[in-house]
Amino acid sequence: MYALKSILMLGHPAKADVNYHAKAMLEAFKHHGDAFPEGSDTGKTHAKKKIWTDKEGFKDKGQAAGKAIMALIKVSESGDNKLIKSKFAGVGKSCKSCHDDYRKKGR
Ligand code: HEC
Repeated sequence: MYALKSILMLGHPAKADVNYHAKAMLEAFKHHGDAFPEGSDTGKTHAKKKIWTDKEGFKDKGQAAGKAIMALIKVSESGDNKLIKSKFAGVGKSCKSCHDDYRKKGR
């Protein structure tokens, strides 16, 4: 995520890397989605209880984020910087939307 941001926002020349990093993000995100099995709401976590009480909503947000990442991967090799940036913003929004609802603030 941060690598992508610096490539896009700072106008980094390594545009081919957007595809690579977007794919890496999808891989990382897949694990993210599997990281909350039933009963794992114990111990040190920033996951809110709501993940387990509102499973449907949590799953929806996860799917929305997955789709947003796929959309970014799709345009990542287009060379269309404006389009790539807008898809990247979409991914950021989808991550935040779930974090706002299901992740506790602070560390
Ligand atoms: C479906 C909900 C959801 C979506 C979508 C989501 N996250 Fe998360 N994320 C969480 C929750 C819940 C935590 C808190 C986990 C914990 O502390 O146990 C978290 C924690 C994190 C952390 C903190 C590191 C860690 O392991 O605790 C990072 C970094 C992160 N998410 C990145 C992302 C990025 C990047 C995206 C978008 C591509 C994203 N997340 C999308 C739910 C989500």
